[in-house]
Amino acid sequence: MSLTFSKVGVVGAGAMGRGIAQIAAQAGSTVLLYDTQPQAVDKAIAEVSSQWARLQEKGRMDDAQVRACRDRLKPAGALADLAGCELVVEAIVERLDVKKPLFAELEGVVGETAILATNTSSLSVTAIAAGCKRPQRVAGYHFFNPVPLMKVVEVIAGLKTDAEVCARLASYAREMGHTPVQAQDTPGFIVNHAGRAYGTEALRLVSEGVADFATVDRILKDQVGFKLGPFELLDLTALDVSHPVMESIYRQYYDEPRYRPNVITAQRLAGGVVGRKSGEGFFRYVDGKAQLPPEPAVPQVEDIPPVWVSTRAARRAELFQLLKELGAKIETGQSPSLNALTLVAPLGFDITTVAVVERLDPARTIGIDLLVDDAATKRRVLATNPATRTDMRDAAHALFARDGKAVSVIRDSGGFVTQRVVAAIVNIASDICQQRICTPKDLETAVTLGLAYPLGPLAMGDRWGPANILEVLFNMQTVYGDPRYRPSPWLRRRGAIGLSLMHEEE
Ligand code: NAI
Repeated sequence: MSLTFSKVGVVGAGAMGRGIAQIAAQAGSTVLLYDTQPQAVDKAIAEVSSQWARLQEKGRMDDAQVRACRDRLKPAGALADLAGCELVVEAIVERLDVKKPLFAELEGVVGETAILATNTSSLSVTAIAAGCKRPQRVAGYHFFNPVPLMKVVEVIAGLKTDAEVCARLASYAREMGHTPVQAQDTPGFIVNHAGRAYGTEALRLVSEGVADFATVDRILKDQVGFKLGPFELLDLTALDVSHPVMESIYRQYYDEPRYRPNVITAQRLAGGVVGRKSGEGFFRYVDGKAQLPPEPAVPQVEDIPPVWVSTRAARRAELFQLLKELGAKIETGQSPSLNALTLVAPLGFDITTVAVVERLDPARTIGIDLLVDDAATKRRVLATNPATRTDMRDAAHALFARDGKAVSVIRDSGGFVTQRVVAAIVNIASDICQQRICTPKDLETAVTLGLAYPLGPLAMGDRWGPANILEVLFNMQTVYGDPRYRPSPWLRRRGAIGLSLMHEEE
């Protein structure tokens, strides 16, 4: 099989350039690595060599393969050495004023048919290509860190990029063992755009006093299956990296409310509380381990009152079944008796609003989040309203913990934790489809590989019901009057037929 590019140049020998050089050499290309700091090239080649030694130890490469790879990876002393390269991938400092002149200079070095690609994560590919005589040959090639392990790459078409250029980059990505996805040149491309909701909605929940950092993380991991909670994730990437990304995407979309960052991260960044690498972020780290506050204990309650369930509760039949299994005394009257614990299960609405609208006694009213079916979760989430009596809260907590499942009790808010974060993720993903930044299929691939979500965002919407997600958003908009919760037209149109249908758009 002949390779799409047999000779490849990589400019910038930092974390990303080194990883790209490694997988290109592994694919069989001769790779020339250039950096303005010659010692960076030496360091990168030594680092990649030791990666190959490790792969050999693990039996993933044999001696001959390692030697061949080492022979193919060569230092370049000057940019002019890249003259014979068929592809040059740039991975230098993230500055337009440095990248743009580099691309113009590269055009004078390489041959007529060579392709020039940028690994930028936040700049416009169109702007980088604008200084070139032939911007048709310039594309984005956005890898993720660490490159050899993160098996997805976004191939980005600038305004003038030839389709053939993207097709060749996609073929080469496959030859390197990566999955290419195709994106239009828009802020954040696919992955960094789709990833906006998780952190910003979680921050908003904490800033409203709904729950603390650890509780929000526990809920999203146990109810939805995320590997890392949003705050653990922000601690890992560190706020000096992620806060500017949140601001940049928000500003590049001209203050679109869906991407609005939060003062919590601005303030913590200013205070140097940036994450794991500084020893303290949303959590404190001792010997690299997060020091999490313990979970509140399950209250001991002698006598649990009878339970009445609102006629409008989501998943009402399932809730009755669950209550039966937990051994609750269930009331079936038109309205709750005088001492009944009153359960509501709204989508999007806050518990206070539901109590008022349904004429329930708020002091005895508790909400439960049933967007995700109980059998599919490892945690139940209850919400009080400001009037809820502590004996009622404790009784509900004790009842729902009877079978040993974890229970979190949060404060009243529109949409609980899971509903809000999931709805925000599905809505932003839908808007990516609406803007035709990529196909629904590539969106799902990019997010599952690039962000390691348990499901693609569209599949997530389908799993828990597009109509339910829409209901959450409509009601959240009513509760908050905030345009960030307005549903994308794409989600509204797909609400009845499903989101992850892979047929061509109507
Ligand atoms: P880095 O700081 O580790 O490495 C950058 C390298 O480029 C340095 O060795 C520097 O000496 C060299 N350099 C700077 N100006 C140069 C020039 N004019 N010519 C040649 N070499 C030059 O940076 P990193 O993290 O590898 O990022 C590189 C690019 O990849 C940036 O555009 C970044 O936004 C993007 N990116 C970074 C990711 C990450 O997680 N670190 C993920 C995806 C993209």
